[in-house]
Amino acid sequence: MDGRPQAEQTEPPRVVLGVTGGIAAYKACELLRRLTESGHQVTVVPTAAALRFVGEPTWAALSGRPVATEVWEGVHQVPHVRIGQQADLVVVAPATADLLARAAHGLADDLLTNTLLTARCPVVFAPAMHTEMWEHPATRENVATLRRRGAVVIEPAFGRLTGADTGKGRLPDPGAIFDVCRRVLARGDLATAADLAGRRVVVSAGGTREPLDPVRFLGNRSSGKQGYALAATAAARGAKVTLLAANTELPDPAGVDVVRVGTAEQLREAALRAAADADAVVMAAAVADFRPAEYATGKIKKVEGQQPAPVALVRNPDILAELAAHRAKPGQLVVGFAAETDDVLANGRAKLARKGCDLLVVNEVGEQKVFGGDTNEAVILGADGSDTPVPYGPKEALAETVWDLVLARLT
Ligand code: PMT
Repeated sequence: MDGRPQAEQTEPPRVVLGVTGGIAAYKACELLRRLTESGHQVTVVPTAAALRFVGEPTWAALSGRPVATEVWEGVHQVPHVRIGQQADLVVVAPATADLLARAAHGLADDLLTNTLLTARCPVVFAPAMHTEMWEHPATRENVATLRRRGAVVIEPAFGRLTGADTGKGRLPDPGAIFDVCRRVLARGDLATAADLAGRRVVVSAGGTREPLDPVRFLGNRSSGKQGYALAATAAARGAKVTLLAANTELPDPAGVDVVRVGTAEQLREAALRAAADADAVVMAAAVADFRPAEYATGKIKKVEGQQPAPVALVRNPDILAELAAHRAKPGQLVVGFAAETDDVLANGRAKLARKGCDLLVVNEVGEQKVFGGDTNEAVILGADGSDTPVPYGPKEALAETVWDLVLARLT
């Protein structure tokens, strides 16, 4: 579960949950519950302002441990350094603009900021604040400083804020923050936790649908799980991620900018726009090669005693080939997927040459294989002649390997 060698994993991973004084503090209760229920030992360090939103008994009951609130309590145990030193992960959720500022400037004026200064483990911040505060140059610089130092700062979600207003600044769903924590813990140490920090990546996921009439479409079996695993993994490794989601029903990964599309044409437009400033583009979406030549504005009716008219199809644009042929910026990496049912590797190699991408993830698919499932197995072919087999396992593991290969080529 965590990054420590097996022998050291007899103890549950020690997580410090820092909670700061924002209305979203109540959502940290759900995060705490998920962390404890999945076997983590959690020490909650709420700030004085956080305790005005959610009281100490709640944190104590949910964590099953004493709550550390003050540098002046239990001084003989030196809590202001011990808690941070012993942690395997520190997560601050919600992180207010004030906390981000104090952390970025190395202040140590309460137990949580002391803990942040003494921790040598990976640190995750889940900011929540009003849009104006998030967008203020001071906050932008503080976030950039923390990211530069290796912290994972999750992008806030867009939506309803404390008052009647709506915008970017909501705390992401606690389940999604938990997912980031799990991934960061699995990677282990501070140096590699945010190895994609400063990188902008685009991932496509799901399957396009090509409408025939208002009721029917040509589609495919993609659920989007592989693409979402790629997006969530990149975000947990510190990248700024745009996820182009074609007809998916999965929850948004934390900190990921999700753009919804329907057809291949819409995906192409969104991909070209998002790729303009991206370091890497990964096309995991299953894109329809063809679409109906004509769209009937009313439902196509069956006529008694007559066979239906054949559906004429036209080619869709090849988005991957276009992205690879017209790189939006020098050094941009373009990665494709190949969904094959037979002659898998031979077809994959031919596809790599045809599409002109840098890496091609070749996976064997079938009605009950890969589509919709949580596992995959692949060979990642490189334009440089390399091939990297990825054994059968979670889609997340394949995603990690894809980003390892991307990062090696970007640097
Ligand atoms: O979503 P899941 O249920 O998790 O399933 C995962 C998956 C099987 C969809 C995924 O692992 C996968 O293989 N995705 C690519 C599916 C696909 O369209 O493969 P393809 O061999 O037809 O296309 C090759 C590549 O060209 C792909 O990167 C595709 O995004 C791209 N393409 C294809 C056609 C087109 N008109 N434009 C494109 O950009």
